[in-house]
Amino acid sequence: MRLNEARRDLYRRLAKEQGYKSRAAFKLIEANERYRFLREGGRVLDLGSAPGGWMQVSSELVGPTGIVVGVDISPVRLKEKNVVSIKMDINDPAVVTKVQEALGGKADVVLSDLSPTVTGVWELDQTRQVDLTLRSVELSRLLLKEKGGFFCKLFEGERAQEVRDEFRRRFKSVRVVKPSASRTASSELYYFCEVMKEVAGIP
Ligand SMILES: C[S@@+](CC[C@H](N)C(=O)[O-])C[C@H]1O[C@@H](n2cnc3c(N)ncnc32)[C@H](O)[C@@H]1O
Repeated sequence: MRLNEARRDLYRRLAKEQGYKSRAAFKLIEANERYRFLREGGRVLDLGSAPGGWMQVSSELVGPTGIVVGVDISPVRLKEKNVVSIKMDINDPAVVTKVQEALGGKADVVLSDLSPTVTGVWELDQTRQVDLTLRSVELSRLLLKEKGGFFCKLFEGERAQEVRDEFRRRFKSVRVVKPSASRTASSELYYFCEVMKEVAGIP
């Protein structure tokens, strides 16, 4: 077995043992240990939330006084009391109002682990993932508090620089994260951005 497969298996096993719906949960745990963006009482918006691993981690960390709202085209079923799942496409304009109602205000943190159904044709998968990520930046502009944090996945490739430029245009601080639960050979990176900038001409 190759090292990457062994690592993936390890995190899959750990997720099962600890009751998480996905091994992705450990990527969020690791990033949060470093940047501490998930805090008690926080309002969290999770874009691309199915099957629910990140929602479970967020739910534990924000506790009963916080709230976690997840959006995905696939349904998410969790029994935690402080979570709300919205089954919707993030490109649907109605998502903004739905999320605002569910969150009860702007989010302290926006998470985005959005990924298209991969075809295996990297250029196509990457460009689709970039479009999803750009939409999550757009939703942050509308739904995230000025001093909030934005943690998101980005597929590396031709259009990645376009997204990094958008992060820098939108946020005062942009940091790259490569969680150990992410396969070393996979071309995905995570970014933690915080404190939104005012962009001239855009409300
Ligand atoms: C890697 S999974 C997320 C895993 C999740 N973070 C967890 O811990 O369980 C990516 C998700 O993005 C969702 N997704 C892709 N395109 C979407 C869209 N246009 N609107 C909403 N969700 C989308 C997929 O349905 C998929 O569930």
